[in-house]
Amino acid sequence: MPRRWLITGGTGFVGRRLAGWLIERGEEVLVAARRRESLVPGAQTVPWPDVASPSPVAARFALLVHLAAWTDITTCAARPMDALAVNGGGAGHAVDLASRAGARIVYMSTLGVYGQPRYLPVDEDHPTDPLSAYAASKLAGERITLARATALGVSWAIIRSFNVYGPGQTGDRLVPRILEQARQSNTVRLHDLSSTRDFIYIDDLCEAILRVGISSEQDVFNAGTGVETSAAGMVSLIGDVLGRPLEPVLVSSAAASAITRSQASVARLRDRLGWVPATPLRTGLERTVARAVAARPVAWSVA
Ligand SMILES: NC(=O)c1ccc[n+]([C@@H]2O[C@H](COP(=O)([O-])OP(=O)(O)OC[C@H]3O[C@@H](n4cnc5c(N)ncnc54)[C@H](OP(=O)(O)O)[C@@H]3O)[C@@H](O)[C@H]2O)c1
Repeated sequence: MPRRWLITGGTGFVGRRLAGWLIERGEEVLVAARRRESLVPGAQTVPWPDVASPSPVAARFALLVHLAAWTDITTCAARPMDALAVNGGGAGHAVDLASRAGARIVYMSTLGVYGQPRYLPVDEDHPTDPLSAYAASKLAGERITLARATALGVSWAIIRSFNVYGPGQTGDRLVPRILEQARQSNTVRLHDLSSTRDFIYIDDLCEAILRVGISSEQDVFNAGTGVETSAAGMVSLIGDVLGRPLEPVLVSSAAASAITRSQASVARLRDRLGWVPATPLRTGLERTVARAVAARPVAWSVA
């Protein structure tokens, strides 16, 4: 008997893959979206025009994964109150929807809630100290999820994902930024070369969401790998995968990240739910690069 999931933000990078990944495993998936068309074959789309307002969704489902959010850090910085309404208020509306449906909720949070790490690897007991409007609004979403779910008796869990990457990712994220430049140049210009991040492959995050979702654990779980990679290291790895050396160039450190190191402790997810990140970075990058090349084969033309 398939379980029925509802995914908000199902048109985004994580949501699209999660919907497809769950369907491949025989699960039933509804995608709550503000666009009418379903972008995921096999998933049913139910309209929710703006998660900052109460949900009109009347469908029944067992598990809600709340991914919808403003994820662009610059937009969140420019419009922090709107970001708070979507990322914080949206979480409250998602809990209300879960309550009406009799469902459990998984709220997707971010490593950004920890701020600059005081120790590494960062475990879930590390103090929260968000340094951006984006991270502050995501932490607000966590707190509202917890408070509202407790008030309504809704089963809840929070996943703090570290940096996700994988095939099809676009936008202002490190891996797509490097790939975009590497298409036509052997030089990759970045604002920060030395800061490290913990990169988790998208399918490993999907597995974590599945395990957390079907458990009855009510807690916060990091999802990462425990491996630190610098931006310059990522350029070099992608060069290896492409089979030609790429040169990282620092253009200006004015936009350097306030978080200089990032490395997750994933002991809680491993010990309680048996989850381990299964995809080595090199393997995940090979899949990501293969998709990027296949999507625009004629554009990769470096002399
Ligand atoms: N990617 C990462 O590295 C990462 C790391 C940690 C945590 N996360 C969290 O994981 C979640 C998914 O991230 P992502 O990378 O998939 O982001 P994304 O590609 O930017 O997708 C965001 C999704 O949210 C939807 N959305 C935005 N504002 C909305 C609103 N007001 N009402 C309804 N839907 C709205 C978007 O819909 P449209 O398609 O209509 O714009 C899209 O489906 C987010 O909560 C993010 O904070 C991501």
